[in-house]
Amino acid sequence: MASEHKFRLGILGSGKGSNFVAIAGACASGEIPAGVALVLSDVEGSGILTHARERNLPARFISPGKFRTKLDEDAERAFVGALQEARVDLIVLAGFMRVLKGEFLRAFEGRIVNIHPSLLPSFPGLAAWQQALDHGVKVTGCTVHFVDAGVDAGPIIGQQTVPVRDHDTPDSLIQRIHTAEHELYPKCVAAIARGEISVQGRRVVWKKN
Ligand code: GRF
Repeated sequence: MASEHKFRLGILGSGKGSNFVAIAGACASGEIPAGVALVLSDVEGSGILTHARERNLPARFISPGKFRTKLDEDAERAFVGALQEARVDLIVLAGFMRVLKGEFLRAFEGRIVNIHPSLLPSFPGLAAWQQALDHGVKVTGCTVHFVDAGVDAGPIIGQQTVPVRDHDTPDSLIQRIHTAEHELYPKCVAAIARGEISVQGRRVVWKKN
């Protein structure tokens, strides 16, 4: 069922969709005062589309086109058109594995958020948990941030720490980071939906802090 809320989320993902599940659950319980208006994926048969359809939420695969790490022009137009048609207020990237560029960023400027599995600005890019293990840090975590033209670079909305244990494997560390993500992302999206945060340059200010 499409969102009946005033504040409408468009969620983009390429993978399992565990963050989508956390956010959709928080919308359903009222923790996030918003509804999921549309779920889009660049991967046919991805977990996120399955989870969305199981919840009767509008969900579509859109072919990403000819590039590997970004959307081509036609795909960009199709993504932007679908999200505008669904009248989304906020784009929530939940494991979307392509970098968003020009037309997309212009269409939704200041209205795109992402979650990254490290404490940015440490370990941007791929396999952030592996980067944390390789570096030997004792604490890592996850970051929710606004998306700008850089990679994992926009103003930081929220962060949650996760300890790195001496005998962690990539799997054990990822699991701990995911648990933190599923707490942090709904809190940040809820604050945005309630109009409780403002952006002042690089700083995101929470009105209730
Ligand atoms: C998460 O670890 C997130 O930080 C990263 O992609 C992963 C998505 O996982 N951007 P899921 O599809 O939400 O399970």
